[in-house]
Amino acid sequence: MNHSAIETNALRKEFGAKVAVADLTLTVQRGEVFGFLGPNGAGKTTSVKMLLGLVARTSGEGRVLDAPLGNVAARAKIGFLPEHFRFQDWLSGREFLDLHARLYGIETENRKARIEKLLTRVDLQDAANRKLKEYSKGMLQRIGLAAALLNEPQLVFLDEPTSGLDPLGRLIVRDVIQELRAQGTAVFLNSHLLSEVEVTCDRVAFVKNGRVIREMGLRETRNEIEIELQVKNPTPNLLRDLAQFGKNVRQWNGSIHLETDGESHIPEINRWLVAQGVDVYKIGAAKPSLEKMFLEVMGEDARAG
Ligand SMILES: Nc1ncnc2c1ncn2[C@@H]1O[C@H](COP(=O)(O)OP(=O)(O)OP(=O)(O)O)[C@@H](O)[C@H]1O
Ligand SMILES: [Mg+2]
Repeated sequence: MNHSAIETNALRKEFGAKVAVADLTLTVQRGEVFGFLGPNGAGKTTSVKMLLGLVARTSGEGRVLDAPLGNVAARAKIGFLPEHFRFQDWLSGREFLDLHARLYGIETENRKARIEKLLTRVDLQDAANRKLKEYSKGMLQRIGLAAALLNEPQLVFLDEPTSGLDPLGRLIVRDVIQELRAQGTAVFLNSHLLSEVEVTCDRVAFVKNGRVIREMGLRETRNEIEIELQVKNPTPNLLRDLAQFGKNVRQWNGSIHLETDGESHIPEINRWLVAQGVDVYKIGAAKPSLEKMFLEVMGEDARAG
């Protein structure tokens, strides 16, 4: 078995004169949670649809779970939560999942238990007998997520899974993604909510005009780190003395920031501050935010509609 869940080379999609995806070249490992980030219209949904075989590619190559794009046997091992979905809204939540489980060919004995487990997982047990047409947007998104997991997939595509969700619903999605990772399921996540991508993804790709322009691991341990601390009444002397631990000591946004060559300086600085009689409210590593990086990488395009 190949170790990659997805491999593409120069995948391209044109809709008439419109180039939706120019050159998609990427690899997603099995078991990896991969974030696919880019501004509106960057080609994220079109890319996902090509990988699923729902949209025919114009050119280029791709393999998903060791099979050519659109392969039916591979598709049975893939889960998909679409960005915009049309559900059979005359069915109840439970009937809807049952229909999809039957479409997957899941045997009767397993079907019921799996459906009840998923209904609980997405917190829709109480609404399971209500018709989907009575569901709110967030409830529909959660039932869609449950449907995407029915076949116990090896790879799950989630296209903006949290766009309609309240904070509790987002937490469910986050937990589901962590559970998928723990089971070794690969997740391909399209999302604009960068704070969530930051906590859930192992790696991200920034896509712009249908082209991956930067890929980045989020779990890599970097040597150079920025430390952020909050103390009671920081004095100029304190700021000066902190320079013994690192460089570029500055006050910003109510915190003191400095750059050091490793996390080992955190307890060291903490001990030193306490010895100086300084009250420490907070100390830790400050990560560069994904949002800041997104805006840098995308430049002006980040604002384009
Ligand atoms: N069926 C289609 N016919 C013509 N153009 C299309 C079609 N589907 C998508 N496009 C165009 O392709 C480009 C990429 O669209 P896509 O939906 O893939 O972007 P996206 O990155 O998912 O955006 P969003 O963040 O808004 O969901 C857009 O310019 C869009 O208008
Ligand atoms: Mg989209």
